[in-house]
Amino acid sequence: MASLVHDTKFIVLLYNFILSICITFPTQITFASLAPESESDYQKWVSWNVKNYAQKPSYNLGAKALSGTIDSMKALDPKLGIADMKRVRLSVSQDGQSDFKTISEAIGSIPLHNKRRVILNIKPGVYREKIVIPKTMHFITFLGDPLNPPTITGNDTASIPGTHGQPSNTFHSATVGVNGDYFVAINIKFENTAPHEVGSPGEQAVALRISGDKAAFYNCSFYGNQDTLYDHKGLHYFNNCFIQGSVDFIFGYGRSLYENCYLNSITKKVASLTAQKRTNATLSSGFSFKNCVVTGSGQVYLGRAWGDHSRVVFSYTFMDKVVMPQGWSNWGDQKRELNVYYGEYKCSGPGSNLTGRVPWARMLTDQEAQPFLDTYYIQGHAWLSNPNSFSL
Ligand SMILES: *[C@@H]1O[C@H](CO)[C@@H](O)[C@H](O)[C@H]1NC(C)=O
Ligand SMILES: *[C@@H]1O[C@H](CO)[C@@H](O)[C@H](O)[C@H]1NC(C)=O
Ligand SMILES: *[C@@H]1O[C@H](CO)[C@@H](O)[C@H](O)[C@H]1NC(C)=O
Ligand SMILES: *[C@@H]1O[C@H](CO)[C@@H](O)[C@H](O)[C@H]1NC(C)=O
Repeated sequence: MASLVHDTKFIVLLYNFILSICITFPTQITFASLAPESESDYQKWVSWNVKNYAQKPSYNLGAKALSGTIDSMKALDPKLGIADMKRVRLSVSQDGQSDFKTISEAIGSIPLHNKRRVILNIKPGVYREKIVIPKTMHFITFLGDPLNPPTITGNDTASIPGTHGQPSNTFHSATVGVNGDYFVAINIKFENTAPHEVGSPGEQAVALRISGDKAAFYNCSFYGNQDTLYDHKGLHYFNNCFIQGSVDFIFGYGRSLYENCYLNSITKKVASLTAQKRTNATLSSGFSFKNCVVTGSGQVYLGRAWGDHSRVVFSYTFMDKVVMPQGWSNWGDQKRELNVYYGEYKCSGPGSNLTGRVPWARMLTDQEAQPFLDTYYIQGHAWLSNPNSFSL
């Protein structure tokens, strides 16, 4: 408890410090219409974070399983504090009743080096747009209607011609590509409708690519075939999301926690659900799935080793019979069996039967599983906001 009191004090000090900066330097950003929201919202956010941090065990992440640098576990991210105190809202709808008719236009109105939380209130509808959020444009938030989430759709693949006529690549196929940090999406459907024929090359078709750090997704859905969700790099959190695809439909080298997510395989030929690309032992990347459901119509491995040190853990997850008895695949390279970290902990359902598992799958002990089991895995206490605070 002593350390908690200390942290609370620290956060209050930090808050006062941030407040003083914001008062001293008036913001240079001018948005079309909207006034920043009140400081009481920020206070609520701070207290929510303090409370939630208090609920998390203070866990030493130095465990062997988590090689990689973990910096300060205790401070709220100061940039985030400033951004959230100076929130701005923009609305988007196709009927001309909002600030913008397309999401791309709304993004085009935001300063390239954005420092404020910008909440795009996206009204119901199907938005056929290709969206790229630039690397310096942080704090962008997509907020949809929970009863009628907007769909952002596209059908680009890795083989469509790029700017110089040559085929582009998986990276550029994304319907929505996010390069900025602190991105949040709530109640949004991300889609790539390009079909996938078994055996045809160049059909990778990403619905969402997240390359920014410290991004969170709540109540979102991701629909695609091959390579639906490119969890490219950074710390990411997915809560209550639906993710559908055929081949490698969650892939990349993000360090990500998926909680309460529904993973739906629609592959026509045996494929892999994840392709985690941790290429060396110094990288802190890895996917952790907790309290999820793995189901669908086509048989899948839980993961295949894209990187030599690929790391994936499933805990408390219900696995339907679509999960291959072997569980995991070495992607045709036996050497990878030595260095991958593929763990399972307290899973249930017919697909979790260990009888046929590859010998290099790990059944984690309580202690081994511990680092993967909560938002501390992604340092969430320092940057996760209360998602309800973004709604009006
Ligand atoms: C993508 O969508 C466009 C517009 O609906 C359509 O003309 C095109 O055939 C589609 N391409 C693929 C590969 O599905
Ligand atoms: C590990 O991989 C990262 C990313 O590719 C690279 O930057 C780093 O140099 C690599 N480290 C070693 C020890 O190979
Ligand atoms: C696991 O699979 C084996 C082999 O198919 C079977 O004999 C066994 O009953 C299964 N265990 C459970 C708990 O379903
Ligand atoms: C997400 O959806 C659930 C219902 O499934 C709802 O209770 C919750 O408020 C939603 N969260 C947000 C942040 O809108």
